[in-house]
Amino acid sequence: MSGFDDAWLALREPVDHASRDAAVAERVRRHFASRASLTVVDLGCGTGSNLRALALSLPPRQHWHLIDGDADLLLAARRRLCDWADGSRPSVTGVVLEKGDRRIDVRFECADLTARDLTFADVGAELVTAAALFDLVSRDWLERLVDGLSDRKVPIYSVLNYDGVAHWHPADPLDARVVEAFNRHQRGDKGFGPALGPAAAGTLARLCQDRGHATWSGDSPWRLLPAHAELVAALTGGFARAAGEIDPALRDALAGWVEVHAAVDAVTIGHRDVFAHP
Ligand SMILES: C[S@@+](CC[C@H](N)C(=O)[O-])C[C@H]1O[C@@H](n2cnc3c(N)ncnc32)[C@H](O)[C@@H]1O
Repeated sequence: MSGFDDAWLALREPVDHASRDAAVAERVRRHFASRASLTVVDLGCGTGSNLRALALSLPPRQHWHLIDGDADLLLAARRRLCDWADGSRPSVTGVVLEKGDRRIDVRFECADLTARDLTFADVGAELVTAAALFDLVSRDWLERLVDGLSDRKVPIYSVLNYDGVAHWHPADPLDARVVEAFNRHQRGDKGFGPALGPAAAGTLARLCQDRGHATWSGDSPWRLLPAHAELVAALTGGFARAAGEIDPALRDALAGWVEVHAAVDAVTIGHRDVFAHP
């Protein structure tokens, strides 16, 4: 168990897919458009949302290597991917999916990314992607990843990195303090050393630019409405829990704060996407 449960990932998946920056996604599609096949590595794959979002804009024949440290999520990924596909069958190494005119071989690897070789040469990576992961990682780890991929000229596509912006409408006087505490919590150690948190996308873009890679960034904010009440309740509770850990003096006020935001008209949570290729 990683603390990222299947139910939370399922709740955010449709919003994540709708929020991705379309211009950056189009850059990715065009970059690989002339290819017949592509080998993709998805870091911190969870239940496979990133594959479901990307597969139809990548070449007809795809090999996906899904990596996560949570064995339960990898089992859920296999199940959800088979449900999503038009057809599926087991293979020696994982599953083969048919979706529209795409044929997708999927392998699953349970591994701790802090301990793994980050060149991904062993699995022949031609694109490394990650959704909602790099705000958890440290600068050192990200630099190691970018260096490992640069040496092999492998592009990187990272989406839905939290950027530190959160607004509830109508607003509450406590919002700024809760968001400030939450953002400090985001910089704590999530297993990779001090996390980049809101600095993730900017740091990735700079590391890639410094190495001379063509780099594109764009915003991918969640824009939530009353129809997303369940996701709003879950994320507002998550902000309160994290803020209370960092700023114990806030704890008494946080129950009231969560209640005030149970029926908001709109919530915006900022994210950034980055695509870079050597
Ligand atoms: C916020 S979830 C995102 C999941 C998925 N990419 C998505 O968009 O739905 C972060 C994922 O990273 C995985 N993860 C976190 N730390 C990890 C580590 N050190 N090694 C491998 N996976 C890790 C978690 O298990 C979780 O599935």
